Amino acid sequence: MVDLHCHIVPGVDDGAPDIETSLSMIRQAKSIGVTAILTTPHILAHPAERATHEEHKRAFARLLDAQRSSDVADIELRLSGEVRVTGDSMRIIDDRAFTYAEEGKYILLELPSQEVPPYFSQTLFEFRLRGITPIVAHPERNLAVITHPQHAIDFVRQGAHLQLTTSSINGELGPTIEAASMAMLQAGIVSFIASDAHNLTMRSFLGWERTREALDLNFGADAKHLFSRLSASNPAAVLNGVPLDLVEIESDREDAFLESFSTQAGLKQEKRKRFFFF
Ligand SMILES: [Fe+2]
Repeated sequence: MVDLHCHIVPGVDDGAPDIETSLSMIRQAKSIGVTAILTTPHILAHPAERATHEEHKRAFARLLDAQRSSDVADIELRLSGEVRVTGDSMRIIDDRAFTYAEEGKYILLELPSQEVPPYFSQTLFEFRLRGITPIVAHPERNLAVITHPQHAIDFVRQGAHLQLTTSSINGELGPTIEAASMAMLQAGIVSFIASDAHNLTMRSFLGWERTREALDLNFGADAKHLFSRLSASNPAAVLNGVPLDLVEIESDREDAFLESFSTQAGLKQEKRKRFFFF
């Protein structure tokens, strides 16, 4: 597996606080089959955050030093960022520092949790225009996407790829987010799964294991291939800076998606209510 969204750079955000924790997190990732990690500390889409990126680079260099003489030296590590879109996003579109491994091929964009800002589609367009493929981080956790799932279709039509979080798929973030994740997976509009690991316990790399089980339950014979594509071959393309095909969605699939989305969300709500009353 290749994990393209997690927070293991020591002491720079709400992820690993120190190098020991970073190494323990890498060890945990290795134990469940992760072979490469693209680590993505939080950063804002603003030119002033160039300095924050330099800070991330220094902390990442210290981690690489420590990793070299450790028992996880064989895990490939690259530095990137989880770029929170802002009204200033247009001002960083020509700065490769915000893209995966500074290669100018892919960028991980995080929406505000409650909304899809009106400038977002223009932001996606501008990145695509420059040959940078946008990856939308965990759209299934965005309130506006959950209430208006058409947004997810729009992102894909605008040339973005969608990344779901392991703990969304395996139900750890609640039934609504789980239902949204399953609907997106069934519609075939998801390109990546990633851990978004922040620590060794509640938000850890171990979420991968339970996600594999959730896919087995929901996708039967197709689960293995789906898991392999979203956890290994597609993220390997980002790791290697190789282009991925655009995700195509036909209009009848779009209708089925919107319908299954609301049906699943409704069923989960119902289940939760029944559970609550018993
Ligand atoms: Fe994250």
